[in-house]
Amino acid sequence: MPRPVRQIRFNAFMMNCVVHLAPGQWTAPEDNSVGYLDPDYWVALARKLEEGLFDSLFLGDITGVYDVFGDGPDAALRTAAQVPMNDPVPLIPLMAHATRHLGFGVTVSVAYEPPYLLARRLTTLDHLSGGRVAWNVVTSYLESGARSLGQRELRAHDERYDRADEYLEVCYKLWEGSWEDGAVQRDRASGVYADPARVHAVRHEGRYFSLDGIFQCEPSAQRTPLLFQAGGSARGTRFAARHAECIFVGAPTRNGLRRSVQALRDALAEAGRAPDSALLFAMFTVIVDETAEKAQARYAAYRERASYDGALALLSGWTGIDLSRYAPDDTLEYVDTKAGQSALASFSKLDPQRTWTVRDAVEFVAIGGRGPVVVGDPVQVADELQAWMEDTGIDGFNLAWVESPRTFHDVVDFLVPELQRRGAYKTAYAPGTLRDKLLGNGPRLQPPHVGAGFRAPDRDG
Ligand SMILES: Cc1cc2nc3c(=O)[nH]c(=O)nc-3n(C[C@H](O)[C@H](O)[C@H](O)COP(=O)(O)O)c2cc1C
Repeated sequence: MPRPVRQIRFNAFMMNCVVHLAPGQWTAPEDNSVGYLDPDYWVALARKLEEGLFDSLFLGDITGVYDVFGDGPDAALRTAAQVPMNDPVPLIPLMAHATRHLGFGVTVSVAYEPPYLLARRLTTLDHLSGGRVAWNVVTSYLESGARSLGQRELRAHDERYDRADEYLEVCYKLWEGSWEDGAVQRDRASGVYADPARVHAVRHEGRYFSLDGIFQCEPSAQRTPLLFQAGGSARGTRFAARHAECIFVGAPTRNGLRRSVQALRDALAEAGRAPDSALLFAMFTVIVDETAEKAQARYAAYRERASYDGALALLSGWTGIDLSRYAPDDTLEYVDTKAGQSALASFSKLDPQRTWTVRDAVEFVAIGGRGPVVVGDPVQVADELQAWMEDTGIDGFNLAWVESPRTFHDVVDFLVPELQRRGAYKTAYAPGTLRDKLLGNGPRLQPPHVGAGFRAPDRDG
């Protein structure tokens, strides 16, 4: 019997800024990346992604600016490398109101605010979107962010994850344990909105957080938003295996991605979860057009226009290493830093079959960041994506963009129909919340996920 064709999933990977992962491209006259300040830009994009049956628009975010390169923010500011950057959260109600099925992943750091406030904001988004919100849990890796928020320095790398574990425990208590399922009665006849006996104060005294209070929000469709995570260090992988329902992997080579996927599946099993209980998405860039010639010509123009200073600012910020101190032909070697450890690992130790000079890595990062780039006509690109799925065991792609809004329009108009023709892409959304759509396992966290253990008992059985 022929094996069933694996279904490819797409999320669009964006940030609320001009330059995300393709510095220099905003300068082209036909590009509209500078439109990010206009609500219509986001609404039109969300509608296009929904037309292409994307699972979600995934919004990255950072706190601080990239000031590691050249020991200052000048290169980042000149090239708009993830600065200026607005808050992603207010975009979601705008886009949710204009769509019915598209999910919204949003990156919010646990580093700078108490869990209570963050939990309330995400619950509000889950209500306003009808259960279509995912939270990308990040611990923040920029010294500039720590200093801007009044901290003397960034916390140590692994401690950031220890603290994040406790942060999530508090969030689970608020989301899952404070309000019982039957607490909201909304009974006009009796005038009772909520039954006080079914709403519980959360008490938490931990190493990093303490709290004594009732959660302010009534439960949303998913309660805990769908949980995304993207840390790839040893400690980050353990954190992902404990909490994440979807994991975002950034690896530049096929061998590197295969190794990352294997490490994550092993870590899930070690954490007592099924190895396939989390969906793994690879960071990727697709440049597709009607013909291979057109796609290749556009790729050549992108390379011509790429800003290598912008790429140096990004890569230095991600790795915590000031690349202005290196010569272009120096080979990148892995060292532990306080910034993101997996970013440097992906250009050094992740794939033993590949070494990278600074120049190689910067040229690579300049179009699509840490993700591979695939260029071609719809048939070629579909072949490539299916091969990556087979070879590496990923479940789908978080697609970065080069030109806005063109990159996503081309995927929707050229690539999605080809994948659908092959039976490798859905032709309609599944019903329900984002968790239902992606995991098919109900709207709420399910055991053995650690968060499900904090659920208040259901008195109605
Ligand atoms: C594909 C990918 C996307 C990421 N997006 C963000 C982001 O938007 N904001 C952020 O603060 N960190 C982001 N990160 C960084 C991770 O969340 C993590 O903080 C960083 O990789 C350091 O952890 P590690 O040393 O475990 O890799 C991303 C990482 C990857 C691999």
